[in-house]
Amino acid sequence: MTNLSGKTAIVTGASSGIGEATARALAQAGARVMLVARREERLIALAAEIGDSACHLALDLSQEDAAQVMLDTAIAQLGKVDILINNAGILRTSHVDAFDLAELEPLIAINYTAAVRASLLFARHMKAHGSGQIVNLSSIGASLTAAGTGIYGGLKAALDRFTDVLRVEMAGSGVRVGIVAPGTTTTEIFEDMKSKGLPGWDEYIPPMVPDDIARAILFMCEQTGNANAARMHIYATSEAF
Ligand SMILES: NC(=O)c1ccc[n+]([C@@H]2O[C@H](COP(=O)([O-])OP(=O)(O)OC[C@H]3O[C@@H](n4cnc5c(N)ncnc54)[C@H](OP(=O)(O)O)[C@@H]3O)[C@@H](O)[C@H]2O)c1
Repeated sequence: MTNLSGKTAIVTGASSGIGEATARALAQAGARVMLVARREERLIALAAEIGDSACHLALDLSQEDAAQVMLDTAIAQLGKVDILINNAGILRTSHVDAFDLAELEPLIAINYTAAVRASLLFARHMKAHGSGQIVNLSSIGASLTAAGTGIYGGLKAALDRFTDVLRVEMAGSGVRVGIVAPGTTTTEIFEDMKSKGLPGWDEYIPPMVPDDIARAILFMCEQTGNANAARMHIYATSEAF
């Protein structure tokens, strides 16, 4: 028996990076895990690696009905949902002179709206069952004032505030709500900037790896009794801001 035996979990953005590592960590801790992202072949491969305790749902979370589809599918496949990790996200950064306005709405849709929609629907579901855990992935960028990060960091700051208010609204319901804010972690999230000829942020300092963040998310999910590890900021050791 491990801490999460008998629990069910959904991890969005499980096809790479932090989400993939988190899905593995939750499964190793005993949870049954539903893997969600768009690249189905990757989800199938990860589910096969994890084994019987994993299933997958290929879904574009930027669609308006995605959170409801995710909840309906989870109830059908898992019964009820104990843990939701809203991890899916993209990074688009640029100075005011160069930001491509076509990237604005997709960034809002996945980094903010999708996480909020899922948080609201799953919070209601969990509250009705009297227990649950929602973890929203923020960023240390939510509290930085650095050129090029206004839109991404601003959306993470908005998600932070929304998430903390949700924690307050869930107080006493049995539903824990928390924020995990990673620092620089080497993943595919930096591929977009690299494809545009820019240095990836994970090239400036020795970055963390996805397992470093997955450990923090697992720690949050393993809280018991009256404890809620509601905010965790995980910095790389060389991060100097
Ligand atoms: N890496 C860092 O340094 C860092 C730092 C701070 C915060 N974060 C946050 O950590 C989270 C995970 O990022 P990561 O670094 O692990 O990035 P990643 O390796 O690029 O993973 C992002 C995941 O999001 C999924 N995704 C993106 N758009 C989606 C959509 N429309 N519908 C469904 N899934 C979608 C991707 O899957 P598909 O493409 O298959 O859909 C992928 O699985 C993000 O919220 C990010 O903002 C990362």
